[in-house]
Amino acid sequence: MSDKTHLVDKITGHRRMRRNRKADWTRRMVQENRLTVDDLIWPIFLVPGTGIVDPIAAMPGVNRISVDKAVEAVREAADLGIPAIAPFPDVEMEKRDATGSEILQRDNLINQFTRAAKKAVPNIGLITDVALDPFTSHGHDGILQDGVIVNDETVDQVVKAAVMQADAGADIIAPSEMMDGRIGAIRRALDAAGHQDVGIMSYATKFASGFYGPYREAINTGGLLKGDKNSYYISPANSTEALRDAALDVEEGADMLMVKPGLAYLDICWRTKDAFGLPTFAYQVSGEYTQIKAAAMNGWIDGDRIMMETLLCFKRAGCDGILSYFAVDVARKLARG
Ligand code: PBG
Repeated sequence: MSDKTHLVDKITGHRRMRRNRKADWTRRMVQENRLTVDDLIWPIFLVPGTGIVDPIAAMPGVNRISVDKAVEAVREAADLGIPAIAPFPDVEMEKRDATGSEILQRDNLINQFTRAAKKAVPNIGLITDVALDPFTSHGHDGILQDGVIVNDETVDQVVKAAVMQADAGADIIAPSEMMDGRIGAIRRALDAAGHQDVGIMSYATKFASGFYGPYREAINTGGLLKGDKNSYYISPANSTEALRDAALDVEEGADMLMVKPGLAYLDICWRTKDAFGLPTFAYQVSGEYTQIKAAAMNGWIDGDRIMMETLLCFKRAGCDGILSYFAVDVARKLARG
């Protein structure tokens, strides 16, 4: 050691943060949060037909797939150790109408998939959304009457759809349409139908966000949507309101909570976990995925690195898991070590 005293010595004294960062082994030893395969929920897009793998232009690397291909994908996910799948259907246009009545068909695309996947791969969780948007001719998540998305009529429909999804084998119902009172109504209906063990993951705080753009292309609702969803989703400006909304879902019987979108809403993730202590999930939505992919494809960022970093940051923000279109890529990467 030189006897020269540096100016910074007076400041650091005996405190030097870098001691714990000096080697790979110290860094591993002090690591506070870790991403594992158990943290991943994989959203997939379904189309009618067989043998179909149809790339989604706005989501490079993500395809719309038919039920047979989806069952293969589910098997692969299960082999990788991914705990659960969240399917979203791209329903034929002819089947979409003003009230989303196709959601009440026992054998609609989502229920077909659930039956097939449950039978072929019983040891993976199936988490189904009960929003009406894939089924409506106007792309809204609810029933539209005189320019208004009517709350109570929508809840009645969503409740029936939830029971049918549970009948098909869904393990967790995940309502994403942000109607008031839906969690309690779904819980009661599930119990009455003998589905006490079917859980509810509430999209508790779903914000009116521009990050959903590529998803709307994936299930072909973007072109249909008239107006916006501001009268039922939460404003990106509000956090206290978001927490109140989540509190109601907890009271009504939600088993798990979700925050959506993810990365721009990490403060909400943290507050939600902190306030309720329920299992809390973030949805790294389509626009988040696409931003990373697009920049990586241009060689402007290291896509793999940012994929891993963003998902780890959800863990740091208190999330118990993440819905991510990267799930399979991440699981493979984690398996390679
Ligand atoms: C609607 C729904 C949305 C997403 C999943 N279900 C948002 C919307 O269209 O308003 C978004 C998922 C994503 O962007 O990845 N019920």
